[in-house]
Amino acid sequence: MIVLGIESSCDETAAAVVEDGTRILSSVVASQVAVHHPYGGVVPELASRKHIEAIVPVVEQAIADSGVGPHRIEGVAVTQGPGLVGALLVGFSFAKAYAHARGLPWVGVNHLEGHMNSVFLGSHSPPFPFVALLASGGHTSLYHVTSHIQYEQMGQTLDDAAGEAFDKVSKMLGLGYPGGGIIDKMAADGDPEKITFPRAFLNKTSFDFSFSGIKTAVKRYIMTHEDTYYRQIPDIAAGFQEAVVEVLTTKLIRAAGTRDCEHIALVGGVAANSRLRGRLNETAIQEGMQVYIPAIELCGDNAAMVAAVGYHYLKAGVRAGLGDDVFSRVPRITG
Ligand code: KG4
Ligand code: ZN
Repeated sequence: MIVLGIESSCDETAAAVVEDGTRILSSVVASQVAVHHPYGGVVPELASRKHIEAIVPVVEQAIADSGVGPHRIEGVAVTQGPGLVGALLVGFSFAKAYAHARGLPWVGVNHLEGHMNSVFLGSHSPPFPFVALLASGGHTSLYHVTSHIQYEQMGQTLDDAAGEAFDKVSKMLGLGYPGGGIIDKMAADGDPEKITFPRAFLNKTSFDFSFSGIKTAVKRYIMTHEDTYYRQIPDIAAGFQEAVVEVLTTKLIRAAGTRDCEHIALVGGVAANSRLRGRLNETAIQEGMQVYIPAIELCGDNAAMVAAVGYHYLKAGVRAGLGDDVFSRVPRITG
């Protein structure tokens, strides 16, 4: 089944054509980074306007790149939430209209379930069950995943998301937005052991996370080294990144251990982090576990993952209706 996926929950307008939830025929992502960069974060009103401008050309491009004509598309999947309401509405309304105009079945999907299904878009996909860490700009959670559309949340962040911590630390260091990739690059020139920051493991059996303490610790370090910190930026970035990576890696491995699961997945924007990918692979080898991480371009927001999960809902007979609307927060399981 060939599915057109559409994503517009935050600052990327994306469309993709995917066959059977696994084979990407095309994937187009129009990033708004340049628009929001001067403001140091996503401005919701600007995001909606940019989505309106981009949605038609992005979908046209995705269909053109796929090499299949529009008549070969058999279903439409679109992100319904969570995200920015004004941004979500653009993709959702477009998908609703497109599906109705073409008489196609369509379904609204949870963005987080999209990220979880991004591991099925490569040649190395996990068998069920597996334990997944989803680390993005808005969420950081651990899941025990038993099918493409069934999972149990094992833990989540109690305050900031991991990506949010990267973004805020980058801002504090004057390095700009979005911070994850910038800190990742900066850290490559630093020594992760020179300046150590606290690791919040909470209690040993908890699979929840907390990143507000480390953010405050970096802030305090900058304030107490006001005249010299700018010479230590790579070491601060490396020390911060190492602390976050250690907590994420340890909790993911531990969570899998409690479920006797040998298969672990890392998804979401933060999964693009080079140190996290490296350390997780190293630790998993020691623990005899198999790691599944999407290609870098599938870690951040994209529509291929939306089409991937949407395929499974459509196959199961789930359909959206004309009266359906987007949702901003409460992660809801579609279907
Ligand atoms: O999944 P995503 O694209 O959007 C959300 O659903 O939130 O994740 C975006 C987040 C941002 O906070 C960004 O700073 C972070 O992912 N990120 C990274 C890296 N690349 C993106 N964090 C750490 N290292 C990276 N290389
Ligand atoms: Zn995302």
